[in-house]
Amino acid sequence: MPDPAIVPISPTLPTLPAPPAHLLCVVAARPNLMKMAPILAALARQAPTLRVTLLHTGQHYDPAMSGQVFADLGMRAPDIALGVGSGNHAQQTAEIMRRFDAVLGELQPAPGAVLVVGDVNSTLACALVAAKRGTPVIHVEAGLRSGDRRMPEEINRVLTDQLSDLLLTSEEGARANLLREGIAPERIHFTGNVMIDSLRQQLPRATPPAATLRTHGHACPGAYGLLTLHRPSNVDDGAQLAALLQALGQLSSQLPLLFPVHPRTRASLRQAGLESLLARHAITCLPPLGYLEMLGLMQAARLVLTDSGGIQEESTALGVPCLTLRDNTERPVTVAEGTNTIAGTDPATIVALARAILDTGGKRGRIPPLWDGHAAERIAAAIVPWLAARRALP
Ligand code: UD1
Repeated sequence: MPDPAIVPISPTLPTLPAPPAHLLCVVAARPNLMKMAPILAALARQAPTLRVTLLHTGQHYDPAMSGQVFADLGMRAPDIALGVGSGNHAQQTAEIMRRFDAVLGELQPAPGAVLVVGDVNSTLACALVAAKRGTPVIHVEAGLRSGDRRMPEEINRVLTDQLSDLLLTSEEGARANLLREGIAPERIHFTGNVMIDSLRQQLPRATPPAATLRTHGHACPGAYGLLTLHRPSNVDDGAQLAALLQALGQLSSQLPLLFPVHPRTRASLRQAGLESLLARHAITCLPPLGYLEMLGLMQAARLVLTDSGGIQEESTALGVPCLTLRDNTERPVTVAEGTNTIAGTDPATIVALARAILDTGGKRGRIPPLWDGHAAERIAAAIVPWLAARRALP
């Protein structure tokens, strides 16, 4: 006789309704926004019932570095703003972790995953908090490696990938990097370069160079080169920055340069007393620009000189020759297939390479695989069933 107090466990018990799927997406710095905007749009199209919370850590906070770019991309305002601001690496990373941990602990329904992009301090800080709380991490732009651990971003890349459950890559070589570091192959999906989705979508709206220069009180110099510098290795040391600017000054007598100055670089220029050096050359300093202004300047440039990662990719997508003022790149496809050349930081070499481009027109390049404007669709198509499968797990 069965004990009536014991309720038998029926194999046909109705399953409880799953909690609504919830994805927490993190942005922090300017280059994150061009990656996140198309992903949010694709998720809304492919999974309209998926709840998506957008969190901004506040690593970049100047209107030109954040608000203007949101507007240019037609991106919705963040649901949560942590307002962390600047600090040295340890302080900034710790503060992001402290504030993000509090949010993740309280958010209802609990997110099924945290999505991070790129390689900035916030990417690692939020991935680490999520992993320690047992919340799966999705990393977009996984597997890029410069092999140079002196770059803070390289440390952020390696560690974020180790913490991630789903790794979505932007170029084919990234997969081999991840496999070498022991990442299980089934976690890796080659979805393509989502930054190029934004570029393709926004290019028809790009601001003409003359209008950008007028807005900032300058005349358009006709043919020009576009210069950006913000890597600590190039700008934090006054002597290194001065040597670079001497070389670029020399080049500017042949090709005037437009130079939107990053806040970090502006501070170094001031501290090292280099503003007068710039004024002696045909180098026009501009404030940090909006995305549409930057696209317009890049598209019409004879040559781009940069130490940015994203601009190496964007110049390849636009077919504009690019000299990377670093000794390496984590985006080798831009060199192998695109318009990019690693110029290093030796002033004479930079000038010689730039002059060769002006003489010959530079590398023509071709568009790398899956830089086709549809990466966000593939990213959403990887994430949505993956999230659903995880929710079905006991
Ligand atoms: C960060 C990323 C870098 C990315 C870059 C894009 C890290 C380690 N670095 O570098 O990978 O390529 O963003 O721009 O995460 N500042 C302002 N206003 C702002 C933001 C920064 O004035 O809105 C100034 C502050 O003085 C700050 C300095 O710039 O200390 C550096 O900012 P930070 O966010 O630490 O690094 P970035 O150089 O912007």
